[in-house]
Amino acid sequence: MLKEKKEKKITSVLHKEIVSLLNEQIWLENHASFYYLNLSIEFSNNGFNGISTFFLNQSQEERLHMTKIITYLLEKDSIPVLPQYNFMEDDEEEFNILSLFENSLYNEKRITTFLNKIISKCKEVGDYTTENFMQWFIIEQREEENKFKEIIDDLKIVGDDGSGLYNINKELGLDISGEDN
Ligand code: FEO
Repeated sequence: MLKEKKEKKITSVLHKEIVSLLNEQIWLENHASFYYLNLSIEFSNNGFNGISTFFLNQSQEERLHMTKIITYLLEKDSIPVLPQYNFMEDDEEEFNILSLFENSLYNEKRITTFLNKIISKCKEVGDYTTENFMQWFIIEQREEENKFKEIIDDLKIVGDDGSGLYNINKELGLDISGEDN
């Protein structure tokens, strides 16, 4: 009886390549969450408490994205794989405000590209449920990419101007985008 139950649990209704891609997506979301958490600390250490709050919210959003995928896999009797690695080993960056935001946008684009890969595979194997599930992430990515692009544009306009940076820092401290999920 117990054996039957166990066998049922590991027999996924999802195509194995979809499960594998979703687990890779968990890795990316988790990486993004830790990447932004690290930036939150960096910005706080450098006196930008508003930007620090912004990245803390971003980190929480990415963690939520990861847990959404974990929940979906469990619903489908599939096994989520939690990432186990040194999250920050490749992310040693010097403190440059503009380039840290540009790198964040680069990461978001990487995630979007991967989402498209999952959706392509869903179409290939006829998995319309997962394809539908991924639509939420596509909309979310569009918003995130636009958010970073706007901040990068503002940073380029202000350059090294202290009062401009002060205002950006203040505005981003008011960002509550982490609460709309
Ligand atoms: Fe969940 Fe911004 O990728």
